Amino acid sequence: MIKQSKIGVGKAHSKIILMGEHAVVYGYPAIALPLKNIEVTCRIKTADKRLLFDATDPLVTAIFAALRYLGIKDEPITYEIESMVPERRGMGSSAAVAIAAIRAVFDYFDQPLSMSVLEMLANQAEIIAHTNPSGLDAKTCLSNHAIKFIRNVGFSQIKIDLGAYLIIADTGIHGHTREAVQAVEALEEKALIYLHRLGDLVEKAEAAILSKDLMKLGSVMSEAHVNLKELSVSSPEADHLVSFAIDNGALGAKMSGGGLGGCIIALAETKERAKSLVQKLEEEGAINTWIESL
Ligand code: PMV
Repeated sequence: MIKQSKIGVGKAHSKIILMGEHAVVYGYPAIALPLKNIEVTCRIKTADKRLLFDATDPLVTAIFAALRYLGIKDEPITYEIESMVPERRGMGSSAAVAIAAIRAVFDYFDQPLSMSVLEMLANQAEIIAHTNPSGLDAKTCLSNHAIKFIRNVGFSQIKIDLGAYLIIADTGIHGHTREAVQAVEALEEKALIYLHRLGDLVEKAEAAILSKDLMKLGSVMSEAHVNLKELSVSSPEADHLVSFAIDNGALGAKMSGGGLGGCIIALAETKERAKSLVQKLEEEGAINTWIESL
């Protein structure tokens, strides 16, 4: 393959799980939203020496997955990453970085990249970052719409038009998705009832979205949080911000993503309420907040 002098550029957006984390690993559905304004950009450039493989780095792993697929070895390349996505907060940083990196490698070598190859390579990189990913993160980071996803089955788009607002608040604590997934596994049959309930709550959330029933959506979110706590994947910081959000006007709130840290999400009826809640959450210790319209 002829070395390119140009710069390869790839972008990807982040995501947030509305409902169904953890249960999705066991075949229950999940609903997740792309965060199209929170992006990662990767640039691949020519370097003096070849890039060294590092299995602990999701970005390098993704670059190597792309190079292997293209049959390219020992290319003197390097990368630059520019990310608005906080790492290890359940916002899909590893999937978004992987997708941006794979796109950048294909762009650098001027190779066409189909969606199915991109998703397959992103999931290869995610397996290294997460061990046993359901595929939800990569799928949502590749989607421009909210999706309902079932592992090994597929996904469908969900139209969310609630005129409401989703607040995302970062506890400031790193999430530990791999450890949280292992903690659920270790519960063995004790986890089953909670996983089943979480699956059921996803269906209720979808029905609430379709009927534009904000109160119902808020209450199923809060109920999901209780079940995630029972699975021991929440954290004291997330529990605190969830209760605080509910006590301060949110229609419902829950942790989001793998947990043991990371972000919480809360539902607000109006933009004014969302803005006021964001301010209060920040005063209460959230290190960063975002508002997404739903
Ligand atoms: O922490 P995140 O955003 O990568 O989400 C993990 C979601 C889990 O359901 C816990 C794991 C998975 O692979 O779906």
